[in-house]
Amino acid sequence: MVGRAQGRLSRPTLPLFLELALSSAGTPQKLIAHPVARLQGRARAPGDKSVSHRALMFGALALGETVITGLLTGEDVLCTAAALRALGAQISHEDIGHEGGVWRVRGFGVGGGQEPSEVLDLGNSGTAARLLTGILASHPFTSFMTGDASLRSRPMKRVMDPLARMGARFEAREGGRMPLCIVGTDEMVPIEYRLPMASAQVKSCVLLAGVNTAGETTVIEPEATRDHTERMLRHFGAEVRVEAAEGGGKRITVVGWPELKARDIDVPGDPSSAAFAVVAAAIRPGSDVVVENVGVNPLRTGLYTTLTEMGADLAYKNQREVGGEPVADLHVKGGGLKGVDVPPQRAPTMIDEYPVLAAAAACAHGTTRMLGLAELRAKESDRLSSVAAGLAANGVKHEMGADSLTVHGDGKPPAGGGLVKTHLDHRIAMAFLVLGLGAREAVAIDDGSPIDTSFPGFAALMNGLGAKIEAG
Ligand code: S3P
Repeated sequence: MVGRAQGRLSRPTLPLFLELALSSAGTPQKLIAHPVARLQGRARAPGDKSVSHRALMFGALALGETVITGLLTGEDVLCTAAALRALGAQISHEDIGHEGGVWRVRGFGVGGGQEPSEVLDLGNSGTAARLLTGILASHPFTSFMTGDASLRSRPMKRVMDPLARMGARFEAREGGRMPLCIVGTDEMVPIEYRLPMASAQVKSCVLLAGVNTAGETTVIEPEATRDHTERMLRHFGAEVRVEAAEGGGKRITVVGWPELKARDIDVPGDPSSAAFAVVAAAIRPGSDVVVENVGVNPLRTGLYTTLTEMGADLAYKNQREVGGEPVADLHVKGGGLKGVDVPPQRAPTMIDEYPVLAAAAACAHGTTRMLGLAELRAKESDRLSSVAAGLAANGVKHEMGADSLTVHGDGKPPAGGGLVKTHLDHRIAMAFLVLGLGAREAVAIDDGSPIDTSFPGFAALMNGLGAKIEAG
């Protein structure tokens, strides 16, 4: 964990509670989850990470003042805020004592960003890096981007390829890895780009570049991925067309040079973060938990579909709309999970949830087969290998394939007792802490500090529901 917060040159002055949260970054923090009988109570999901990044970015690309409530104050989102400030956006934060406070963004407008004077450090955040590359590449200046050891090992070629076709130039390390030099242009040419992998980040990157490109930029996605960018483009006044693509999938077209106007956004809770409390309750018989304010956009809810198929008692209550996204309170009662087959077509709708699904599968009766997982190898860690190693350390029978994972459970608590390596990956950290709550012996993780990238206050929230997660 050396240097995650170090070298974040453009991080501006932050409110005290955020300074305190970030001051612990860089120090590995061992955590232990002890087995508990059950979880009970109500908790509120933290703001959605995907929506939070986009809210700040669209606020920066709009003219006027965008007011954001419910924003996730995780490190990843703070990195986006810092980078946008370096581009000239005015971003202020008012602490109202709860739920992330009120954020105000005064944008620079489409194409109006200034050359950042420092290297942009995006910390652990692939979403920040990939989406911002689309914005930076469509500006007529050179910018530099880096991140922590995890982000520096992740593929950027997937965004460099389409942006190079539009006219930008790049220098990167071997294999298209960061640090990255982006030589942008304000004379990009619109393209039609067929995504070679199911990736909302790549789709969003090309659409964001298309916003500052004359004409119409089209992304064809063979498999539907989260559509927060498309929803937010419309919310801010851009013209976006979504049509059926020949041969299946969607054609998403943005009309360039829209005048984006500031809009208010209320960020819904993150279904990917809520997943940890939901699974923890589902694996402990007798549990009864409500997670409030969870985004239930159908392109994000594959885990909840899967848990229901596994026999979980899970209900969406109080369904409503928040910030243009469907939201519900999730009511889950524990016990009685059985193994299922999870089809590859479902992967884009639950891509971040396989680690915690593996924890559920380890506690279920029977075999759970997860297919179509190739993209897991390009996450904050090689998540397929990280999950398999964590299962092995905790006595869970499983097989890992090139793009699949099979987990065998016998309906009883798995052995546990292992020490899991998190590899700078917040979701590996949280998933194995959840496993510890449902195992026979406590589960330890070598470093819980990456949890703050997406879910500050995770241990406190879980312990408030009856979990026992403590420093090791
Ligand atoms: C995200 C898209 C997904 C997801 C990530 C957030 C986004 O990544 O894993 O956590 O906000 O667009 P990919 O686009 O690489 O699948």
